[in-house]
Amino acid sequence: MSPENLLGVERLVKRFGGFRALDGVSFSLKAGEVLGLVGPNGSGKTTCINTISGLYPPDGGVVRFAGRAIGGLAPHRRARLGINRTFQSPRPFASLTVRQNVALAAAYGRNQGEASADIAPLLAELELDLLAERRAEDLNSAQQKQLDLARALATRPRLLLVDELAAGLNPAELARMADYLAGLAKSGIALVVVEHLLGFLDRLTDRVIVMNAGREIFEGTLAAATRDAEVVRVFLGRDHAG
Ligand SMILES: Nc1ncnc2c1ncn2[C@@H]1O[C@H](COP(=O)(O)OP(=O)(O)OP(=O)(O)O)[C@@H](O)[C@H]1O
Ligand SMILES: [Mg+2]
Repeated sequence: MSPENLLGVERLVKRFGGFRALDGVSFSLKAGEVLGLVGPNGSGKTTCINTISGLYPPDGGVVRFAGRAIGGLAPHRRARLGINRTFQSPRPFASLTVRQNVALAAAYGRNQGEASADIAPLLAELELDLLAERRAEDLNSAQQKQLDLARALATRPRLLLVDELAAGLNPAELARMADYLAGLAKSGIALVVVEHLLGFLDRLTDRVIVMNAGREIFEGTLAAATRDAEVVRVFLGRDHAG
């Protein structure tokens, strides 16, 4: 792995019983880069995020972060190193307020010396300031996604893994979210963005990996992916077939 890579994933394998949800995935990412991860349902995208964030220990391969192999580290240890993620289905502390959820994450993540850091700017950036005293369970699904992102960002990640953040957002919200994530990358955060909505990815990144059945079948620009015969067959072709 070249030294400037922040994240290096090498031949990653994750099995559930005899089934290989990840079957030897490799890629790398530099600070400030955005990598899109696309593929049909069940192709292993969320499993990839779960394995990099430490929710699942890998059954093979290596995850390197800032030059260090982190295979055995628990998610909270990875959060302190600077890795965090959003969830395909957000899971806030339902009975706590928005502010309490974000404050807890801030206290738990990186730079704990700054645990008392002001979370107000983050709430405002994510349009959660007017909802700050509302309980998480009372938010709609788009607001829960905003909260989940705020929670992840409160730990001050250097690597942010986002899992279908755009699902359920209206077109204006989608555009704002894509621009917000692009701004995070500009500030130096590396992003892995799992997304079915190619228009959303197109606003954010050029480079995508297309997965199928736990393997990477394509890496390159989004435009090239949509012209690749195998990608069209496994991903777009299936959609076109209805
Ligand atoms: N905890 C688990 N136990 C058993 N099987 C799992 C588990 N998590 C994922 N799988 C299986 O691994 C495969 C990959 O799932 P994964 O959730 O990573 O897919 P995905 O690409 O994120 O799909 P989607 O687009 O539907 O979110 C699927 O066949 C899924 O059923
Ligand atoms: Mg998924």
